[in-house]
Amino acid sequence: MTDVTFQVFPDGKLHGHCRVAGDKSISHRAIMLGAIAEGETYISGFLQGEDTLATLAAFQAMGVKIQRNQDVVKIQGVGLHGLKKPDQELYLGNSGTSMRLLSGLLSAQDFDTVLTGDPSLTKRPMRRVTDPLSKMGAKITATEKGTPPLQIFGNQKLQGIEYVMPMASAQVKSSILLAGLYAEGTTCVIEPAPTRDHSERMLQGFGYEIQRHGAKVCLKGGGKLFAKNIDVPADISSAAFFLVGAAISTNSELCIEHVGINPTRTGILDILNLMGANIQIQNKRDIGGEPVADLLVKSSTLKGIQIPEELVPLAIDEFPAIFIAAACADGETILTGAEELRVKESDRIQVMADGLKVLGIDAQPTPDGMVIRGGQLQGGEIDSHGDHRIAMSFAMASLRAKNPIKIKDCANVATSFPDFVELASRLGLNIDQH
Ligand code: S3P
Repeated sequence: MTDVTFQVFPDGKLHGHCRVAGDKSISHRAIMLGAIAEGETYISGFLQGEDTLATLAAFQAMGVKIQRNQDVVKIQGVGLHGLKKPDQELYLGNSGTSMRLLSGLLSAQDFDTVLTGDPSLTKRPMRRVTDPLSKMGAKITATEKGTPPLQIFGNQKLQGIEYVMPMASAQVKSSILLAGLYAEGTTCVIEPAPTRDHSERMLQGFGYEIQRHGAKVCLKGGGKLFAKNIDVPADISSAAFFLVGAAISTNSELCIEHVGINPTRTGILDILNLMGANIQIQNKRDIGGEPVADLLVKSSTLKGIQIPEELVPLAIDEFPAIFIAAACADGETILTGAEELRVKESDRIQVMADGLKVLGIDAQPTPDGMVIRGGQLQGGEIDSHGDHRIAMSFAMASLRAKNPIKIKDCANVATSFPDFVELASRLGLNIDQH
């Protein structure tokens, strides 16, 4: 992979209207469910990022006819039992969502598969899916450390289970539910805290019955999915960089259009509002079972807060951006209950604390969070450790920095937001890449 470096300069602002990249979580699920449904599914607004394209390629490798023209995708569903054995192992790049959700779905097929990924993905914990799937009767092995590659042996008979999830993870929940489609009896997952519910919503949209009682979500194996058209909203996780950027800079005013505001994803809005940001939610509407709105954000003076722990799973991907907001706020921001950040595309607590320190900010990492005292950002050289969200967050820091910031190892921005630099630059961020 060619290395990409971002260089960002002070005195930018963010102005105008934009639509950010399509929702990554919904794009993955649209391919997966479209592939195993009966009939033709059309997707619009599909995220053309490396992660979701890895999912698309995996299903093509399993014999599903998928045509893509930019962000429009047509899938000829093969039904629950129509996937074919791929010729090779399935390479899933940087994408944890692809690996964890596919491990559930592929545990139930009548062929063997191997799932691999890039150096970041092959360090990420997979026992969180292999343990419950094995309890269902799957035969699936990881390395001794519980990391990829995953070897999945087909032709197993799966049984429904009731699984109490030890961590709040939508990937684990979705993996088990996808296996549950094929299992005998009922499969239930109990969440310790609410996590994104796109799988449940989309399964229902494809005509599959789902039951939810409080923290418990259940489905019965042996049903069918029916093709459906999906309009993917813009990703609130990609909007987050611009929400923070406009909030921390002076003279910014930005309207981010058609953003998914599913209540299991809006922790970023609640946290920024608690910090004193000025964000208005406009034109709220429902698009195919997912709530969508335009977000109008203006410059504001932020203050440090203690982040409520119940908001952590609802903003899990947005903490790199939130840490930048905290670095620009008056006073101290304290995050606890977020140990999951240590096992994302990078250790987001350590890598963000290291980067903030380079910029002259007092940032103290803790085992499950961080304490950040707001201050004047300087400039410097940051290592994003190949983590897309860290690269984009530090790009926004330039809006309040005194000196230029160089951000290394940014190629993976293409996993979730391929036109980030182009869009940020059009809206007024001083950014170059080489
Ligand atoms: C995702 C769930 C979250 C999130 C990831 C996407 C999903 O991961 O961080 O970017 O699409 O289900 P966890 O389930 O590990 O929290």
